[in-house]
Amino acid sequence: MKVLLTGAAGFIGYHAAKILLAEGYEVIGVDNLNDYYDVGLKQARLAELEKFESFDFHFIDLADEKSLSIFHGQGITHILHLAAQAGVRYSLDNPRSYVRANVAGHLEVLEFARHCEGLQHLAYASSSSVYGEREGGPFAETDIVRSPASLYAATKIGGEMLAESYARLYGIPQTGLRFFTVYGPWGRPDMAYFIFTQKILAGEPIILFAPDEMSRDFTYVDDIVSVFPKILQTPPDNSSGGHAVYNLGNHNPNKLMELVRAVEAACGRKAELIIQAKQKGDVSKTYADITAAQRDFGFNPKTNISEGIPDFVAWYKTYTTI
Ligand SMILES: NC(=O)c1ccc[n+]([C@@H]2O[C@H](COP(=O)([O-])OP(=O)(O)OC[C@H]3O[C@@H](n4cnc5c(N)ncnc54)[C@H](O)[C@@H]3O)[C@@H](O)[C@H]2O)c1
Repeated sequence: MKVLLTGAAGFIGYHAAKILLAEGYEVIGVDNLNDYYDVGLKQARLAELEKFESFDFHFIDLADEKSLSIFHGQGITHILHLAAQAGVRYSLDNPRSYVRANVAGHLEVLEFARHCEGLQHLAYASSSSVYGEREGGPFAETDIVRSPASLYAATKIGGEMLAESYARLYGIPQTGLRFFTVYGPWGRPDMAYFIFTQKILAGEPIILFAPDEMSRDFTYVDDIVSVFPKILQTPPDNSSGGHAVYNLGNHNPNKLMELVRAVEAACGRKAELIIQAKQKGDVSKTYADITAAQRDFGFNPKTNISEGIPDFVAWYKTYTTI
């Protein structure tokens, strides 16, 4: 089993590589190490992965035409496509980077898959942001997703549509994974829990945008990646047209203030709060219906923020003293 893993230097990619290596996969990792956040953190993740003999890294920008063609004839059986320009707010400032990575880059992965002999399954990252601003919840895969609140969300809906068309046209078995606010050790410095930890430990105030309105289905990274091996081994059958989409969330949303309290408890310090209005592009709520992933992959998230945030803070303290 040989997996092409895109975004291998990224947060989820790093954890995905570790679990796939532990399951006996050979992992070909690719990433362009872009500077959306600290490149040193991406390099530190890679340094951990390069300790494994079955991990092979290639510095590649996926959005470059035919960038993946060097991997033809190398016996790739699976693809896990996680590379993307992530983050909602940055899409207001730098929209082109989203279309380049998430649309043009996704197309290159599909083109590679189309000509990849022996490929059994392509799984790719989508996002809870495809659900946009909506009432109620939990949000199910059968809900109609046509109202992206940000360009990031629009490119993720676009990615699902590209995948659907290639499944129909070329019979490539594909699974889209809608992740819900994934957090944990080696996490992303642009995300709220990371910024709160940094600031609280430094004795600096934190900014909360419309905290009374905001809740997120915070999902611990180990809960997600633990089902990746099962997902890769379970291509969708023809009844779903060879393309299926699943929510991977915690099914247990927390209010933003509950996140702040969890970070405060883990840091052993109170935060000084600055309250501001809701930001453009943000949605009020995410909440995953995970019935389908439970049924098909045995997905069973167990970690709540009261356990997961202390793990993150413990990692953060070790990492920042390296
Ligand atoms: N972390 C979350 O909460 C979350 C939630 C929903 C969806 N997702 C999706 O999951 C995937 C992984 O997210 P993450 O949190 O690990 O983000 P990340 O930014 O840590 O990882 C993405 C990686 O992709 C790489 N990359 C970007 N553009 C590239 C290109 N053109 N060529 C090669 N590499 C490129 C980046 O350098 C980065 O290392 C992304 O598709 C993201 O949109 C993440």
